[in-house]
Amino acid sequence: MFSNYTQFIINLARISGEELKNGFNSSFKVESKTKLNDLLTEYDLKSEKIIIDKIKSNFPDHNILSEESGDVFSNESDYTWIIDPLDGTVNFANKLAIFSVSIALKKEDKIISGAVFNPISDELFYGELNKGSYLNDKRLKVSKCEDINKAFLVTGFPYNIAENPLNCIETFSRIIQSGIPVRRLGSAALDLCFVADGRFDGFWEVSLKPWDMAAGKLILEEAGGKVTDYLGNEHNLEESSIIATNNLIHNNLIGLVNEN
Ligand code: IPD
Ligand code: CA
Ligand code: CA
Repeated sequence: MFSNYTQFIINLARISGEELKNGFNSSFKVESKTKLNDLLTEYDLKSEKIIIDKIKSNFPDHNILSEESGDVFSNESDYTWIIDPLDGTVNFANKLAIFSVSIALKKEDKIISGAVFNPISDELFYGELNKGSYLNDKRLKVSKCEDINKAFLVTGFPYNIAENPLNCIETFSRIIQSGIPVRRLGSAALDLCFVADGRFDGFWEVSLKPWDMAAGKLILEEAGGKVTDYLGNEHNLEESSIIATNNLIHNNLIGLVNEN
């Protein structure tokens, strides 16, 4: 019932995820991309190579946007693959099993398929435009929480928070001081999938990149969730701020993060 593209993405997420799992259970090299603790392990690169090689051999005309290679190989194709080969590198490097590989396919301006896989918990989240989203064999559905004061939220902070605070800490502080429980897990792709699965009612973050959000956004929308920018406008992947909820608390969360 899913398209060949979605089947391909699922397979690719599993293969690259297996590589990450092997790496996680071994000793590996860790470098710093910047002085800001933005880490790079050899497994970010190994996972990325597996994914890009397979895409290039199966769809040689398609564009690719991937975190560590960066480039969009732009040509005439309407299709662009958006890849985070390891989302949650700091967790991975510190042996904390909250990380994922995230792969999405965009056709023109719409994400049409996506998968996010945590190989340690063996949780594969995937979805296809207008066909729903799943966790392994289970159909995903957002939570029913309607009251922001009873919500359970998740957020994240950019690596350059010290230099570019963007009110992150004020917003975080205000929300936890209001008594609403908030978690910070370290993989934005998984954060979005966890809202899709009803574990969290909402997620917000600033300064994300397209590869952090592309697959998780589709998976959440297909589970009945809502994704916008901080002001409630339609979200596009070039927009780095994100508010993602079960839909029911969306306007309230927009209100809360914009109170500064
Ligand atoms: C990071 C994670 C984290 C988020 C950061 C991202 P990376 O991605 O998604 O949750 O808070 O903003 O950069 O560097 O581990 O791929
Ligand atoms: Ca990322
Ligand atoms: Ca990454």
